[in-house]
Amino acid sequence: MSPVRLGVLGCSAIARRRSLPAAAEVPELVTTAVASRTREKAERFAAEFGATATDYESLVSDPDIDAIYLSLPNSLHHEWTRRALDAGKHVLCEKPLTGSAAATRELTALADEKRLVLRENFAFLHHPVHDHVRRLLDQGRIGPLRTFTATFGIPPLPGEDIRYSAELGGGALLDVGVYPLRAALLLLGPSLSLVGATLRMDASSDVDVAGNVLLTADSGVFANLEFGFEHSYRARYALWGGTAWLGLDRAFTPPPQHQPVLRIEEQDHAEEIVLPPAHQFRTSLGSFAQAVQQRTPEEKRWVAAADALAALVDEVRERAVRVEAA
Ligand SMILES: NC(=O)c1ccc[n+]([C@@H]2O[C@H](COP(=O)([O-])OP(=O)(O)OC[C@H]3O[C@@H](n4cnc5c(N)ncnc54)[C@H](OP(=O)(O)O)[C@@H]3O)[C@@H](O)[C@H]2O)c1
Repeated sequence: MSPVRLGVLGCSAIARRRSLPAAAEVPELVTTAVASRTREKAERFAAEFGATATDYESLVSDPDIDAIYLSLPNSLHHEWTRRALDAGKHVLCEKPLTGSAAATRELTALADEKRLVLRENFAFLHHPVHDHVRRLLDQGRIGPLRTFTATFGIPPLPGEDIRYSAELGGGALLDVGVYPLRAALLLLGPSLSLVGATLRMDASSDVDVAGNVLLTADSGVFANLEFGFEHSYRARYALWGGTAWLGLDRAFTPPPQHQPVLRIEEQDHAEEIVLPPAHQFRTSLGSFAQAVQQRTPEEKRWVAAADALAALVDEVRERAVRVEAA
């Protein structure tokens, strides 16, 4: 099967740092063209990644491109994903797919109608550590699950970062908050109800810089989520069961060489399971490329999860109690 010809929409930090180096290691992908708003930046990227330089419009209409990797600011995800799907391209869009449930549904329906692969790039979902956690849960290692907690916080970013722009779809909920929410959907299932939420608003930028979310699953399990970008770095989740507690640190953005450690604590016993490292960006890109090549039937589960996440994000936005940052 010939490799998928990838077009890169936006010369972003994440494309340069993670996605394009990872794509270069995926045999099913060839980075064919990169597009920027500025010619000079596109040429710099193109030289670095062995592709041709172009602009956004030309990229999505290029007949020599099969699929688009999109890492624009969040507020542009919907428009450019729609344009790419309309032009018959498969799309791997950076998380979150869009900022609202209606916009996400429009895209997932369009991809379905056109029989195109559409994925939201939550790379952590492609790390095998979460399958290991699932197996331990299913084997009853921690007893009946009672509570899921997840945290993703990062230190403040430079003032000009896109995450502080309301117009560009900034804010902690869409940037880091979606990780604990997506992890709750992964481990507790799609039927989650929002009990309550808080968002801390920054008056100068008018974006949320931190938040907390409380959910319940149909099974009666609680999910307690926290996130922000005014914190020391922390990316972890824990499952607290009737007989033991299981925690995973660096759950969302482990570097490729990191060996995940699952810690299990019981009343008089603690143990650690050290797992092999995995390159989750490479696996995510590889899995996308294979789905494009094979149009795998399991594709629906990815779009269904994107819809479920966007619905939760909408609800958090609607119902959160907002407090002002001091
Ligand atoms: N999966 C992950 O682990 C992960 C990690 C980090 C970020 N992300 C996601 O990736 C996306 C990009 O994040 P990033 O940190 O890489 O952002 P970034 O470095 O600021 O890149 C965004 C790119 O969008 C383009 N752009 C178009 N209109 C723009 C505008 N009005 N202002 C600024 N840039 C504009 C620019 O490319 P040109 O100048 O070339 O046009 C810019 O380089 C976000 O959706 C974010 O949530 C995902």
